Amino acid sequence: FYVTGKVPMVTRDVVCFMLDRIFDNWCNEAGFLLTGATPAQIDHTAGAYVHAGPFFVLNMSNGNPIIIETNTLQAELEGSHYQPAKIFQQAIHHDNLGHPQIGGNDNLEHPQIADRGLLWDESGKWLTIKPGENVDVPQAVTAEIRDRLLGVLFSQTVDILDRDIGTAADLELGCRLAFAFRQGPLELMRELGEQESERILTKFTRAKPGMPGAQRPLRAYQDFYRFILVDELDGVIIITLRRPEALNALHDDMTDEILAVLKRHENDPQTTGFIITGYGGAAFSAGADIGRFPSMLGDKDQSIDYARVCSRLLVYLDTCAKPVVAALNGMALGGGLELVVRCHGIVAVEDAWLQFPEITLGIAPGLGGMVTPYRRWPAAAAAFHAMLLKAEKMAATDAAQAGIINTLADNHAALLPGAVRLVRELAGKPHTLADTPINISPPAAGKDEPLSFTGQKLSAAVSAIIRQAIVDAAAAVSLDAALEIGYSAFGDSACTAAAREGIGAFMEKRKPDFTLTG
Ligand code: COA
Repeated sequence: FYVTGKVPMVTRDVVCFMLDRIFDNWCNEAGFLLTGATPAQIDHTAGAYVHAGPFFVLNMSNGNPIIIETNTLQAELEGSHYQPAKIFQQAIHHDNLGHPQIGGNDNLEHPQIADRGLLWDESGKWLTIKPGENVDVPQAVTAEIRDRLLGVLFSQTVDILDRDIGTAADLELGCRLAFAFRQGPLELMRELGEQESERILTKFTRAKPGMPGAQRPLRAYQDFYRFILVDELDGVIIITLRRPEALNALHDDMTDEILAVLKRHENDPQTTGFIITGYGGAAFSAGADIGRFPSMLGDKDQSIDYARVCSRLLVYLDTCAKPVVAALNGMALGGGLELVVRCHGIVAVEDAWLQFPEITLGIAPGLGGMVTPYRRWPAAAAAFHAMLLKAEKMAATDAAQAGIINTLADNHAALLPGAVRLVRELAGKPHTLADTPINISPPAAGKDEPLSFTGQKLSAAVSAIIRQAIVDAAAAVSLDAALEIGYSAFGDSACTAAAREGIGAFMEKRKPDFTLTG
């Protein structure tokens, strides 16, 4: 991944591997559907599940010969139910030398389907719509297209998992990344419910004898980690945050998965400890998932609840009997950094960096960011003030000098071995965060307009909330009390006009303007 920037997936050595089985059969089924619908109607209906419909994608990739080739191969090796739809052969004609050419309305062995009109243009491109464009589709036709496309999708999904061709997590991610599916097939099945998914799958396999059906109850396919990878290296469990679409941003579902892994292995004598790292070369984690924030803005209690739920993992780390080391493969921001602070040791690649960007979003950190760094490294308080109130970045090299990061790795390949060594060093040693009031110099009173380290105007209201929370949390009698102060300050910040502006700006991909929000 570091070298190519691609997301590798492990598959069994079967024809069409894993993802092509999905893509080719999805497109092939779309080809069969042309007896009752146009390419545009099929693409429009598919648009509920995927960014671009099968015919649009086939046009982009000149994909007709690929479907013929791959489905013929699958038919030869796995059964005639995989035969390519004849229409794909009709969409190809041969030039005088016998070379296959795409499209053209001459030289066709078969006329196009009369009552559907033309299916492709002179250059052989399917006549379809662009993603997001509309076309009329009668209700009954929509229902049939939907059932057949989802039918083939679910059939391939259960087959891939039953034959152990690839993992559920890779299949989900691959479908989202490679085909721009709005959700992975298993997520879709979960959302539709077992009964409806069962109906679709059974209808499909009855109509297409030979097509694979489920070997287990559908709910059994849902039991897997969706947001993390779990590996083992020399007695150390490695948990990799994996949401490459969102730079490994954290949410409660992901933190719950991590927590489940810790609980599962904490008492296993074979396990020395844990490493938490991020997928890819850019980010350990770009923070809490901002996409989950809009629904809680303006609701203090709900915001506090969400912070507490995500913090269950972090609180568990405080007393986890085995060492947990954060291995920073890149930036650790916001909630990602709050997780790192709670790990018992930190290893980082040299070009990693730390930041609390929350104030630039008009919110306060929710998972202990105003509390735990001070309780762990009080001597670095001035640096934390600048990080929390100005969103200043801290380079991993500076963090190592300040004693925050234990070890630097000069390259990605050295990161995990370094983290394993640190787990071994920390094994059996106590890990505690100060549970009494701590003595730090408070942040200087802000008389002027608050500005970020880049000069961006910030919210005075949110700046005041953070400043007060830092002071109150330092004075709190216990770690628990200090954390509660942090959750509550996050809840207060979520009710400001600045939060609405800051989060809204991120979602709309524009710079926030705090001049009017205060
Ligand atoms: N939550 C949800 N999604 C996030 C995210 C977060 N914290 N951080 C990044 N993403 C998403 C982006 O929205 C983008 O998705 P898209 O491709 O669907 O648009 C994707 O991850 C890649 O991010 P992008 O911003 O395009 O990458 P970049 O390299 O240009 O910038 C950052 C990287 C980290 C500077 C930028 O993503 C950022 O500012 N993220 C928010 C950081 C933050 O404020 N974290 C604290 C949250 S409390």
